[in-house]
Amino acid sequence: MLIAGLSGANGLDRELSRLTGIHLVNVETKLFPDGESYIRFTEELSGQDLIIVQTLYPNQDKKFLELLLAVDAAKDLGCRDVIVVVPYLAYSRQDKAFLRGEAISIKTLLKTLSYVGANYLITIDIHKEESLKYFKGTSVNLDPTPLYASVIKRECRNPVIVAPDQGAASKATKLTQMLGYGDYVVFKKFRDKVTGDIKHEFTDAVVNGRDAVIVDDIISTGLTIANIAQYLIKQGASKVYVVCSHGLFVGNALEKLTSSGVYEIYSLNTVALPNGVKVLDSAPLIANALSNILNLKRGYGG
Ligand code: R5P
Repeated sequence: MLIAGLSGANGLDRELSRLTGIHLVNVETKLFPDGESYIRFTEELSGQDLIIVQTLYPNQDKKFLELLLAVDAAKDLGCRDVIVVVPYLAYSRQDKAFLRGEAISIKTLLKTLSYVGANYLITIDIHKEESLKYFKGTSVNLDPTPLYASVIKRECRNPVIVAPDQGAASKATKLTQMLGYGDYVVFKKFRDKVTGDIKHEFTDAVVNGRDAVIVDDIISTGLTIANIAQYLIKQGASKVYVVCSHGLFVGNALEKLTSSGVYEIYSLNTVALPNGVKVLDSAPLIANALSNILNLKRGYGG
């Protein structure tokens, strides 16, 4: 078993190699002058299983193409199973045709990844787990809840967990259950399918004098969280924390959140994070999933 990191590995390749003791192979990645991607493995891969680490932000299209090239090249070199570790799986929010004629982007990504020969896929907190049905091999969606819970236990006083929309409701429930104390509230969010504008419908929540913790999978423009944070502060929350899996922080998203009154933001390192965001290390979670796959393969004599 070998491990390789592509241009979006965000250091997770090295950390996974350190945690698992699996040898990290050299891989050259570059862009030609006209912008085309180039991949080259410079070590012998024949007959080996290979883990390829690539997270898909920023420049999701380039990074995805690089991943496809790497999987295909690995297969050409005679690799046995290819395990792709994609901690942030871009395009997962486009999981259906919201408007007639739209591409179901996540379907296209996962079908293509299967087509080039990826046998296993490990990701973290995909927007909708059911999208993984489009991947033909074995897929694992890692649950970040224990990482969120450890922050809250350490930092928050009398917490109320807040789901910014229905999509995050199960995250809030799970987190509250894992904490074993506190309660949660789920707000309603409406997004204009054409302009992307959002509006919230707030239900009454007892937040006065308590720490509020907003939980979401992705922070992109920051609008969702900023809206909610302002409301929670108006309702008397002591401090507003945010825990998320994929902190993309597009444009001035981080400033937007800080100026809306958010006290502290925690994100998993599934993408490179800006200064000011506290990092929750996802490497141990992934390393554990890798060892489960290894044990499974050993069980099958693979
Ligand atoms: C959407 O359903 C996701 O779960 C997030 O709530 C959304 O992507 C956040 O986007 P933004 O930061 O642009 O409001």
